[in-house]
Amino acid sequence: MTVPVATQAGCFITFEGLDGSGKTTVLNFVEQRLRQRHLPILVTREPGGTRIGDEIRQILLKTSHRGMVAKAELLLYAADRAQHVQERILPALRQGRIVLCDRYTDATLAYQGYGRGFDLDWIERLMEFATDGLKPDLTIVLDLDVAEAQARLRRRHAGIGAMGHDRLDAETVEFHERVRRGYLALAQREPQRIKVISAAGTVEETCQAALKLVEDLLRRRRGA
Ligand code: TMP
Repeated sequence: MTVPVATQAGCFITFEGLDGSGKTTVLNFVEQRLRQRHLPILVTREPGGTRIGDEIRQILLKTSHRGMVAKAELLLYAADRAQHVQERILPALRQGRIVLCDRYTDATLAYQGYGRGFDLDWIERLMEFATDGLKPDLTIVLDLDVAEAQARLRRRHAGIGAMGHDRLDAETVEFHERVRRGYLALAQREPQRIKVISAAGTVEETCQAALKLVEDLLRRRRGA
């Protein structure tokens, strides 16, 4: 039984969505705006974010690792996250920093739960174990039609000559449809924490919508 950890003075914000939804662009925009205000920030990502995590990321995403079984995939994401939380996220939160993280537990629920079909309650218990119960204060899901997300990915990787730039991008359209529906279902289950914004508009519109959610949270925190 794990005891949820308090995030102390810090603030933990995660960004989620299909590959191609633009979440990294949005995260970078929010980061820039907060840095302009000289707020203490840590920007990080999953899988990765630590030296060990970067090695796990390579194992997870190599297109030549097509033979990876779904259980190994799930446990590698959990292992990456356990390292990340202890080594980087919690220390930053304890220092009072704003942690902006590109993917976290909701990605595992969406991809390995809704996408691969693992039991959601079981994944939640595994996530609680891996993270000691650390939950984001705010999760921003960028929602986009699968065909449009894939078209954006193809444009981004034009010239590389690869269909998908990693093992999961190469999954079927049906898989990505399940992931998308998964994110929307998670948001319905936890509407206070998980906010969905459309990524179908311009980059500027999406970035501004995300920034507003972050600013609302920071304002509530200051008022608390
Ligand atoms: P990224 O391209 O956003 O860095 O993410 C790498 C891939 O890993 C992406 O296709 C989503 C996938 N992923 C999962 O399947 N489960 C997870 O828990 C995480 C963090 C990512």
